[in-house]
Amino acid sequence: MQLIDGKEIARQIKAEIAAETAQIKNSGGKTPHLAAVLVGHDGGSETYVSHKVKACEECGFNSTLIRYENTVEEWELLEKIDELNRNADIDGFIVQLPLPGHISEQKIIEAIDFRKDVDGFHPVNVGRMAIGLPCFISATPAGILELLKRYKIETVGKHCVVLGRSNIVGKPVATLMMQKATPGDATVTVCHSRSKNLKEMCLQADIIIAALGQPGFLKASMVKKDVVVIDVGTTRIPSSQTKSGYRLVGDVLFDEVAPLASFITPVPGGVGPMTIVSLMKNTLLASKGEIY
Ligand code: GUN
Repeated sequence: MQLIDGKEIARQIKAEIAAETAQIKNSGGKTPHLAAVLVGHDGGSETYVSHKVKACEECGFNSTLIRYENTVEEWELLEKIDELNRNADIDGFIVQLPLPGHISEQKIIEAIDFRKDVDGFHPVNVGRMAIGLPCFISATPAGILELLKRYKIETVGKHCVVLGRSNIVGKPVATLMMQKATPGDATVTVCHSRSKNLKEMCLQADIIIAALGQPGFLKASMVKKDVVVIDVGTTRIPSSQTKSGYRLVGDVLFDEVAPLASFITPVPGGVGPMTIVSLMKNTLLASKGEIY
């Protein structure tokens, strides 16, 4: 079994991005600038956004954090998005999800100029990805593919089972795994909460990408020997053992699945750190105008 060290790969990629950014800045080019809009004080969102701001510093980017209380009105956010769309210094921006119930996430996503949508959530980017055109690919799926690439994991003709059909992970990663590309060219099955023969599907899988948000869902009895397991789950559960008062738990029962796997990602330290660097990559691409 080989552990996929997302933390180490993310460190390498961040160093590559930082080196390229330093070169751009030294030759008088524009400093990449990412803005993040954070609504409310959800613990998970606070952590993710602070990691994104820190990653910007490490890459040599400028960053701007715009905060609102939970009571913010939808029109206020839409006004801010309009301003960010028109601000030439901002190369890309994200609105951290989830948003409070009185705000339409879809309306917010669609208000973002797709050329600045470094999250890759806008329907234009999703659609372009689906037909293999240059676009911003959302960070978690992009991070997963980068891990497969850097660990030289064969995907051609393999049976890849994706657990979960979210717009952020399940759907896009399934699309990417079946595209004519490397990594890609896999035969993909998408399973979800209404799937009937989930265990049988998993037992046939060469690669399992678990993105259900159900702690410990994937067990040893559900996988075949030498399976590749990518665990996207990041459920926070209370813990008296950590400073933060919680710990992250994946969708895979790591201790029992790992001995059967050829490759497996841990939680934390697997897919999570890759998500952040993929966002940095998209921001650099946006700044260089390489996509649009
Ligand atoms: N909430 C959970 N993951 C993400 C992400 O990748 N981007 C944004 N904007 N919100 C999220």
